[in-house]
Amino acid sequence: MKLSKRLSAIDSLIAQPTDIVWDCCCDHGYLGLALLKRNAAKKVIFVDIVPTLMADLESLLMRVSAQQNSHSSSEQWQVMCKDVGRILLGKNIKQTVVIAGVGGELLLKLVQQIIANNSIESVQNTRFILCPVHHTYDVRVGLNMLGLGLISEQLVCENKRFYEIIEVSFNSNTKVSCTGLHMWDFTNKEHITYKQQLLNHYNKMLNKDEVYYQKVITDYQGLADS
Ligand SMILES: C[S@@+](CC[C@H](N)C(=O)[O-])C[C@H]1O[C@@H](n2cnc3c(N)ncnc32)[C@H](O)[C@@H]1O
Repeated sequence: MKLSKRLSAIDSLIAQPTDIVWDCCCDHGYLGLALLKRNAAKKVIFVDIVPTLMADLESLLMRVSAQQNSHSSSEQWQVMCKDVGRILLGKNIKQTVVIAGVGGELLLKLVQQIIANNSIESVQNTRFILCPVHHTYDVRVGLNMLGLGLISEQLVCENKRFYEIIEVSFNSNTKVSCTGLHMWDFTNKEHITYKQQLLNHYNKMLNKDEVYYQKVITDYQGLADS
């Protein structure tokens, strides 16, 4: 199974030895399966709220484990059917929480809940790799409010859709820019198109909350592309 460009970019960020990778809102688990295949972590935990999806994924993983006859399932992977906001992170271990492919509002809520429901020792060594669908400005504002710092950010264009991949942790002091900063390359036509799409969208939103959305527009206009 070939990963999409977006999931492949996330997969590439998991390059250092890690104890646990949480593939949150995993759906069919494509990302986690790719991580398992290349032994990217000691354990991959798949989490989704839909029981049938998780039952199918668990059967698949059991079949693969049986065929390979190598790793015991409880050691290398785990499937959890639950709300991602309720996951309990391990303490004093290196872990990466990936949340991708859900709307920005939900994604931010899940990050807030994970932080609220876990101890400082657990979240301190946790890296979050986040890829929201839309509303990235609000996600970035929220990440700043939580005190998370930027590790990396990138823009991925797939099937004419744009995705921001934002990597953050409490161990970074770099402020998360509300518009994104390091990810932009205005010599790339796709990036100019994405910025224009955002401006068009926020111009349409002006009648909902003029003061807020005018600030959003001004911030995006402040990014130099000409
Ligand atoms: C479009 S899929 C994303 C799949 C994959 N992460 C990706 O980026 O391609 C979104 C998944 O999020 C799951 N989901 C939505 N809200 C959730 C929650 N609160 N807790 C766990 N899973 C959730 C849905 O069941 C769905 O399978």
